[in-house]
Amino acid sequence: MLRARITGTGSAVPEHVLTNYDLEKLVDTNDEWITTRTGIKERRIAAAGEYTSTFATLAARRALAMAGISPEELDLIILGTVTPDFPFPATACIVQHELGAKHAVAFDLSAACSGFIYGLNMAEAQIRSGMAKKVLVLGAEVLSRVVDFSDRNTCILFGDGSGAVVLEADNGDRGILSTHIFSNGSHWGLLYQPGPGSRNPASVAATIDDKLYYLRMEGNDVFKHAVRAMGDAAVAALEANQIHADQLALLIPHQANRRIIEATGKRIGLPEEKVFVNLHKYGNTSSASIPIALDEANHEGRLKSGDLVLLDAFGGGFTYGSALIKW
Ligand code: UT7
Repeated sequence: MLRARITGTGSAVPEHVLTNYDLEKLVDTNDEWITTRTGIKERRIAAAGEYTSTFATLAARRALAMAGISPEELDLIILGTVTPDFPFPATACIVQHELGAKHAVAFDLSAACSGFIYGLNMAEAQIRSGMAKKVLVLGAEVLSRVVDFSDRNTCILFGDGSGAVVLEADNGDRGILSTHIFSNGSHWGLLYQPGPGSRNPASVAATIDDKLYYLRMEGNDVFKHAVRAMGDAAVAALEANQIHADQLALLIPHQANRRIIEATGKRIGLPEEKVFVNLHKYGNTSSASIPIALDEANHEGRLKSGDLVLLDAFGGGFTYGSALIKW
Protein backbone atom coordinates (compact mmCIF):
# COMPACT_ATOMS: atom_id res chain seq x y z
CA MET A 1 0.00 0.00 0.00
CA LEU A 2 1.24 3.47 -0.89
CA ARG A 3 2.13 5.41 2.26
CA ALA A 4 3.51 8.87 3.07
CA ARG A 5 6.79 8.34 4.93
CA ILE A 6 8.78 11.07 6.67
CA THR A 7 12.30 10.91 5.24
CA GLY A 8 13.68 14.17 6.62
CA THR A 9 13.08 16.55 9.52
CA GLY A 10 14.46 20.02 10.15
CA SER A 11 13.91 23.00 12.40
CA ALA A 12 15.13 26.55 12.92
CA VAL A 13 14.59 29.01 15.75
CA PRO A 14 15.84 32.57 16.35
CA GLU A 15 19.10 33.08 18.25
CA HIS A 16 17.63 35.55 20.72
CA VAL A 17 16.43 33.99 23.99
CA LEU A 18 13.80 35.73 26.14
CA THR A 19 13.75 34.21 29.63
CA ASN A 20 11.08 34.36 32.32
CA TYR A 21 13.43 36.69 34.20
CA ASP A 22 13.50 39.03 31.20
CA LEU A 23 9.68 39.06 31.24
CA GLU A 24 9.68 39.99 34.94
CA LYS A 25 11.09 43.33 33.81
CA LEU A 26 8.29 43.88 31.25
CA VAL A 27 5.12 42.82 33.09
CA ASP A 28 3.91 41.95 36.59
CA THR A 29 4.91 38.28 36.56
CA ASN A 30 7.59 35.99 37.90
CA ASP A 31 9.53 32.88 36.92
CA GLU A 32 7.81 30.79 39.60
CA TRP A 33 4.28 31.59 38.28
CA ILE A 34 5.19 30.98 34.65
CA THR A 35 7.04 27.75 35.43
CA THR A 36 4.33 26.21 37.62
CA ARG A 37 1.37 27.32 35.45
CA THR A 38 2.90 26.57 32.05
CA GLY A 39 6.27 24.76 32.26
CA ILE A 40 7.87 27.45 30.09
CA LYS A 41 11.31 28.82 31.09
CA GLU A 42 12.32 30.69 27.94
CA ARG A 43 11.31 31.31 24.32
CA ARG A 44 13.05 32.45 21.12
CA ILE A 45 12.24 35.84 19.60
CA ALA A 46 12.91 36.88 16.00
CA ALA A 47 15.23 39.82 15.42
CA ALA A 48 14.46 42.74 13.10
CA GLY A 49 14.92 41.49 9.55
CA GLU A 50 13.87 37.94 10.43
CA TYR A 51 10.46 36.77 9.19
CA THR A 52 8.34 33.62 9.20
CA SER A 53 9.85 32.67 5.82
CA THR A 54 13.37 33.08 7.26
CA PHE A 55 12.93 30.22 9.71
CA ALA A 56 10.73 28.18 7.37
CA THR A 57 13.34 28.26 4.62
CA LEU A 58 16.11 27.22 7.00
CA ALA A 59 14.03 24.40 8.50
CA ALA A 60 13.11 23.25 4.98
CA ARG A 61 16.76 23.16 3.86
CA ARG A 62 17.64 21.01 6.87
CA ALA A 63 14.75 18.60 6.23
CA LEU A 64 15.65 18.32 2.53
CA ALA A 65 19.31 17.67 3.41
CA MET A 66 18.31 14.85 5.76
CA ALA A 67 16.00 13.35 3.13
CA GLY A 68 18.78 13.68 0.56
CA ILE A 69 16.53 15.23 -2.08
CA SER A 70 16.85 18.46 -4.03
CA PRO A 71 14.22 21.24 -3.90
CA GLU A 72 13.45 20.68 -7.61
CA GLU A 73 12.11 17.21 -6.75
CA LEU A 74 9.33 18.61 -4.53
CA ASP A 75 5.77 18.40 -5.90
CA LEU A 76 4.07 20.29 -3.10
CA ILE A 77 4.84 22.70 -0.23
CA ILE A 78 2.23 23.15 2.53
CA LEU A 79 2.99 25.71 5.21
CA GLY A 80 0.87 26.05 8.34
CA THR A 81 0.99 29.53 9.84
CA VAL A 82 -1.08 32.27 11.47
CA THR A 83 1.76 34.78 11.23
CA PRO A 84 2.62 34.82 7.51
CA ASP A 85 5.14 37.27 6.07
CA PHE A 86 2.21 39.07 4.34
CA PRO A 87 -1.59 38.61 4.16
CA PHE A 88 -0.73 37.48 0.62
CA PRO A 89 1.04 35.99 -1.23
CA ALA A 90 1.38 32.77 0.72
CA THR A 91 4.57 32.45 2.74
CA ALA A 92 4.83 28.98 1.14
CA CYS A 93 5.40 30.73 -2.22
CA ILE A 94 8.23 32.78 -0.71
CA VAL A 95 9.78 29.60 0.68
CA GLN A 96 9.34 27.91 -2.72
CA HIS A 97 11.24 30.78 -4.33
CA GLU A 98 13.99 30.80 -1.69
CA LEU A 99 14.51 27.06 -2.07
CA GLY A 100 14.28 27.06 -5.86
CA ALA A 101 11.55 24.40 -5.66
CA LYS A 102 10.28 25.37 -9.08
CA HIS A 103 8.12 22.29 -9.72
CA ALA A 104 6.25 22.50 -6.43
CA VAL A 105 2.74 23.83 -5.86
CA ALA A 106 2.87 25.98 -2.72
CA PHE A 107 0.17 27.23 -0.37
CA ASP A 108 -0.38 28.29 3.25
CA LEU A 109 -2.80 26.61 5.57
CA SER A 110 -4.52 28.45 8.42
CA ALA A 111 -5.36 26.09 11.27
CA ALA A 112 -3.47 27.83 14.09
CA CYS A 113 -1.63 25.41 16.38
CA SER A 114 -3.04 22.42 14.46
CA GLY A 115 -1.59 23.69 11.17
CA PHE A 116 1.13 21.07 10.98
CA ILE A 117 -1.26 18.13 11.62
CA TYR A 118 -3.71 19.54 9.05
CA GLY A 119 -0.76 19.83 6.64
CA LEU A 120 0.22 16.19 7.24
CA ASN A 121 -3.36 15.18 6.51
CA MET A 122 -3.34 17.06 3.16
CA ALA A 123 0.10 15.71 2.24
CA GLU A 124 -0.89 12.15 3.08
CA ALA A 125 -4.02 12.38 0.91
CA GLN A 126 -2.01 13.75 -2.03
CA ILE A 127 0.62 11.03 -1.71
CA ARG A 128 -1.83 8.15 -1.21
CA SER A 129 -3.86 9.24 -4.24
CA GLY A 130 -0.71 9.43 -6.35
CA MET A 131 -1.14 13.16 -7.02
CA ALA A 132 2.18 14.00 -5.35
CA LYS A 133 5.30 11.97 -4.59
CA LYS A 134 7.50 14.31 -2.55
CA VAL A 135 5.93 16.86 -0.23
CA LEU A 136 7.34 19.43 2.20
CA VAL A 137 5.13 20.22 5.20
CA LEU A 138 6.04 23.08 7.51
CA GLY A 139 4.81 24.89 10.57
CA ALA A 140 6.28 28.37 10.90
CA GLU A 141 5.49 31.34 13.13
CA VAL A 142 6.77 34.68 14.31
CA LEU A 143 4.16 35.09 17.04
CA SER A 144 6.21 37.74 18.83
CA ARG A 145 4.93 40.21 16.19
CA VAL A 146 1.27 39.70 17.23
CA VAL A 147 1.78 39.41 20.99
CA ASP A 148 1.16 42.34 23.33
CA PHE A 149 4.27 42.52 25.52
CA SER A 150 2.30 44.54 28.08
CA ASP A 151 -0.31 41.76 28.58
CA ARG A 152 0.95 39.22 31.12
CA ASN A 153 -1.87 36.80 30.26
CA THR A 154 -0.45 36.12 26.81
CA CYS A 155 3.09 37.50 26.39
CA ILE A 156 4.65 34.83 28.59
CA LEU A 157 3.35 32.00 26.44
CA PHE A 158 4.51 32.39 22.87
CA GLY A 159 7.70 32.04 20.84
CA ASP A 160 9.02 32.00 17.28
CA GLY A 161 10.45 29.30 15.01
CA SER A 162 9.77 26.71 12.36
CA GLY A 163 9.86 22.95 11.82
CA ALA A 164 9.62 21.00 8.58
CA VAL A 165 9.32 17.45 7.30
CA VAL A 166 9.81 15.87 3.88
CA LEU A 167 7.27 13.15 3.05
CA GLU A 168 7.83 10.67 0.25
CA ALA A 169 5.65 8.02 -1.32
CA ASP A 170 6.72 4.58 -0.06
CA ASN A 171 5.42 1.09 -0.71
CA GLY A 172 6.59 -0.32 2.63
CA ASP A 173 4.65 -0.51 5.89
CA ARG A 174 6.30 2.54 7.48
CA GLY A 175 4.91 6.07 7.29
CA ILE A 176 1.70 7.81 8.30
CA LEU A 177 -0.82 5.20 9.46
CA SER A 178 -3.66 7.65 10.03
CA THR A 179 -4.54 11.30 10.47
CA HIS A 180 -7.66 12.63 12.19
CA ILE A 181 -8.52 16.31 11.96
CA PHE A 182 -11.44 18.17 13.54
CA SER A 183 -12.86 21.71 13.66
CA ASN A 184 -15.26 23.41 16.05
CA GLY A 185 -15.90 26.97 14.93
CA SER A 186 -18.41 27.71 17.69
CA HIS A 187 -15.59 28.91 19.96
CA TRP A 188 -13.58 30.92 17.44
CA GLY A 189 -13.75 34.04 19.64
CA LEU A 190 -11.83 32.45 22.51
CA LEU A 191 -8.50 32.63 20.68
CA TYR A 192 -8.00 34.96 17.74
CA GLN A 193 -6.33 38.01 16.25
CA PRO A 194 -9.04 40.62 15.54
CA GLY A 195 -7.15 42.45 12.82
CA PRO A 196 -6.01 43.36 10.30
CA GLY A 197 -8.54 41.61 8.10
CA SER A 198 -11.81 42.34 6.32
CA ARG A 199 -13.62 42.89 9.65
CA ASN A 200 -11.00 45.24 11.04
CA PRO A 201 -8.90 46.55 8.15
CA ALA A 202 -5.53 48.13 8.82
CA SER A 203 -6.84 51.19 6.93
CA VAL A 204 -9.35 51.97 9.71
CA ALA A 205 -7.97 53.95 12.66
CA ALA A 206 -9.74 51.80 15.29
CA THR A 207 -7.68 48.78 14.26
CA ILE A 208 -4.57 50.60 15.39
CA ASP A 209 -6.07 52.67 18.24
CA ASP A 210 -7.73 49.64 19.87
CA LYS A 211 -4.66 47.44 19.25
CA LEU A 212 -6.76 44.92 17.33
CA TYR A 213 -3.59 43.56 15.76
CA TYR A 214 -2.70 41.72 18.99
CA LEU A 215 -3.62 38.11 19.62
CA ARG A 216 -6.42 37.61 22.19
CA MET A 217 -7.08 34.56 24.29
CA GLU A 218 -9.44 33.52 27.08
CA GLY A 219 -6.71 31.33 28.54
CA ASN A 220 -8.71 29.45 31.12
CA ASP A 221 -11.54 28.49 28.73
CA VAL A 222 -9.06 27.51 26.02
CA PHE A 223 -7.21 25.37 28.54
CA LYS A 224 -10.32 23.28 29.32
CA HIS A 225 -11.18 22.79 25.65
CA ALA A 226 -7.56 21.88 24.86
CA VAL A 227 -7.42 19.14 27.50
CA ARG A 228 -10.63 17.52 26.23
CA ALA A 229 -9.91 17.90 22.51
CA MET A 230 -6.32 16.68 22.60
CA GLY A 231 -7.42 13.65 24.60
CA ASP A 232 -10.22 12.95 22.09
CA ALA A 233 -7.85 13.26 19.11
CA ALA A 234 -5.34 10.88 20.72
CA VAL A 235 -8.06 8.33 21.47
CA ALA A 236 -9.36 8.61 17.87
CA ALA A 237 -5.91 7.63 16.55
CA LEU A 238 -5.56 4.67 18.92
CA GLU A 239 -9.07 3.35 18.26
CA ALA A 240 -8.85 3.68 14.46
CA ASN A 241 -5.60 1.70 14.43
CA GLN A 242 -6.77 -0.74 17.14
CA ILE A 243 -3.68 -0.19 19.24
CA HIS A 244 -3.19 0.38 22.95
CA ALA A 245 -1.15 3.27 24.35
CA ASP A 246 1.52 0.88 25.66
CA GLN A 247 2.43 0.11 22.03
CA LEU A 248 3.40 3.76 21.50
CA ALA A 249 7.09 4.66 21.61
CA LEU A 250 6.45 8.38 21.95
CA LEU A 251 3.71 11.01 22.12
CA ILE A 252 4.72 14.36 20.63
CA PRO A 253 1.96 16.80 21.61
CA HIS A 254 1.52 20.47 20.75
CA GLN A 255 3.63 22.40 23.24
CA ALA A 256 1.22 24.94 24.77
CA ASN A 257 1.19 24.17 28.46
CA ARG A 258 2.84 21.40 30.47
CA ARG A 259 -0.39 20.72 32.38
CA ILE A 260 -2.31 20.16 29.10
CA ILE A 261 0.46 17.83 27.89
CA GLU A 262 0.38 15.85 31.16
CA ALA A 263 -3.41 15.57 31.05
CA THR A 264 -3.24 14.23 27.48
CA GLY A 265 -0.65 11.61 28.44
CA LYS A 266 -2.79 10.57 31.43
CA ARG A 267 -5.99 10.36 29.37
CA ILE A 268 -4.47 7.56 27.25
CA GLY A 269 -2.45 6.07 30.13
CA LEU A 270 1.03 6.90 28.84
CA PRO A 271 3.98 7.17 31.29
CA GLU A 272 5.74 10.56 31.47
CA GLU A 273 8.96 9.29 29.85
CA LYS A 274 7.03 8.52 26.66
CA VAL A 275 5.76 12.09 26.30
CA PHE A 276 8.10 14.49 24.52
CA VAL A 277 8.34 17.95 26.09
CA ASN A 278 10.49 20.87 24.94
CA LEU A 279 8.25 23.83 25.71
CA HIS A 280 10.56 24.93 28.54
CA LYS A 281 12.96 26.07 25.76
CA TYR A 282 10.58 27.51 23.15
CA GLY A 283 7.18 28.25 24.71
CA ASN A 284 4.17 27.86 22.44
CA THR A 285 5.26 28.23 18.80
CA SER A 286 1.78 27.34 17.45
CA SER A 287 1.98 25.38 14.18
CA ALA A 288 5.78 25.05 14.56
CA SER A 289 5.73 23.33 17.94
CA ILE A 290 5.16 19.73 16.78
CA PRO A 291 7.63 19.73 13.85
CA ILE A 292 10.32 21.40 16.01
CA ALA A 293 9.75 18.75 18.70
CA LEU A 294 9.72 15.96 16.10
CA ASP A 295 13.05 17.17 14.72
CA GLU A 296 14.56 17.35 18.20
CA ALA A 297 13.31 13.86 19.08
CA ASN A 298 14.78 12.61 15.81
CA HIS A 299 18.19 14.17 16.49
CA GLU A 300 18.16 12.87 20.05
CA GLY A 301 17.76 9.33 18.66
CA ARG A 302 14.35 8.88 20.29
CA LEU A 303 12.70 7.68 17.06
CA LYS A 304 13.72 4.17 16.00
CA SER A 305 12.72 2.46 12.79
CA GLY A 306 9.32 0.81 13.29
CA ASP A 307 8.42 2.88 16.40
CA LEU A 308 4.81 4.05 16.72
CA VAL A 309 4.77 7.82 17.27
CA LEU A 310 1.63 9.81 18.00
CA LEU A 311 1.37 13.54 17.17
CA ASP A 312 -1.48 15.50 18.76
CA ALA A 313 -2.51 19.15 18.42
CA PHE A 314 -5.11 21.73 19.43
CA GLY A 315 -5.46 25.38 18.43
CA GLY A 316 -7.57 28.42 17.62
CA GLY A 317 -10.62 27.84 15.50
CA PHE A 318 -10.96 25.52 17.38
CA THR A 319 -8.96 23.04 15.37
CA TYR A 320 -7.50 19.80 16.64
CA GLY A 321 -6.17 16.51 15.39
CA SER A 322 -3.70 13.65 15.59
CA ALA A 323 -1.39 11.66 13.36
CA LEU A 324 -0.12 8.14 14.04
CA ILE A 325 3.21 7.37 12.38
CA LYS A 326 5.16 4.15 12.04
CA TRP A 327 8.69 5.59 12.01
O1 UT7 B 1 -1.87 26.88 21.62
C1 UT7 B 1 -3.23 26.77 21.60
C2 UT7 B 1 -3.92 26.85 22.77
N1 UT7 B 1 -3.44 27.62 23.86
C3 UT7 B 1 -3.43 27.05 25.03
O2 UT7 B 1 -3.64 25.88 25.10
C4 UT7 B 1 -3.24 27.88 26.25
C5 UT7 B 1 -4.26 27.48 27.25
N2 UT7 B 1 -4.27 28.21 28.51
C6 UT7 B 1 -3.27 28.17 29.42
O3 UT7 B 1 -2.22 27.60 29.19
C7 UT7 B 1 -3.53 28.77 30.78
O4 UT7 B 1 -4.89 29.10 30.88
C8 UT7 B 1 -2.67 30.03 31.09
C9 UT7 B 1 -1.24 29.62 31.32
C10 UT7 B 1 -2.79 31.03 29.96
C11 UT7 B 1 -3.17 30.69 32.37
O5 UT7 B 1 -3.14 29.77 33.45
P1 UT7 B 1 -4.41 29.60 34.38
O6 UT7 B 1 -4.04 28.61 35.39
O7 UT7 B 1 -5.59 29.29 33.50
O8 UT7 B 1 -4.51 31.00 35.04
P2 UT7 B 1 -5.71 32.06 35.00
O9 UT7 B 1 -5.82 32.67 33.65
O10 UT7 B 1 -6.94 31.45 35.60
O11 UT7 B 1 -5.17 33.15 36.00
C12 UT7 B 1 -4.95 32.86 37.39
C13 UT7 B 1 -4.37 34.11 38.06
C14 UT7 B 1 -5.16 35.37 37.74
O12 UT7 B 1 -5.16 36.18 38.90
P3 UT7 B 1 -6.44 36.25 39.85
O13 UT7 B 1 -7.56 36.74 38.98
O14 UT7 B 1 -6.64 34.86 40.34
O15 UT7 B 1 -6.02 37.22 40.89
C15 UT7 B 1 -4.33 36.04 36.68
O16 UT7 B 1 -4.50 37.44 36.64
O17 UT7 B 1 -3.04 34.34 37.59
C16 UT7 B 1 -2.93 35.68 37.11
N3 UT7 B 1 -1.98 35.73 36.01
C17 UT7 B 1 -0.64 35.90 36.20
N4 UT7 B 1 0.09 36.06 37.30
C18 UT7 B 1 1.43 36.18 37.14
C19 UT7 B 1 -2.22 35.58 34.69
N5 UT7 B 1 -1.07 35.66 34.00
C20 UT7 B 1 -0.08 35.85 34.90
C21 UT7 B 1 1.31 36.00 34.81
N6 UT7 B 1 2.03 36.16 35.94
N7 UT7 B 1 1.95 35.96 33.63
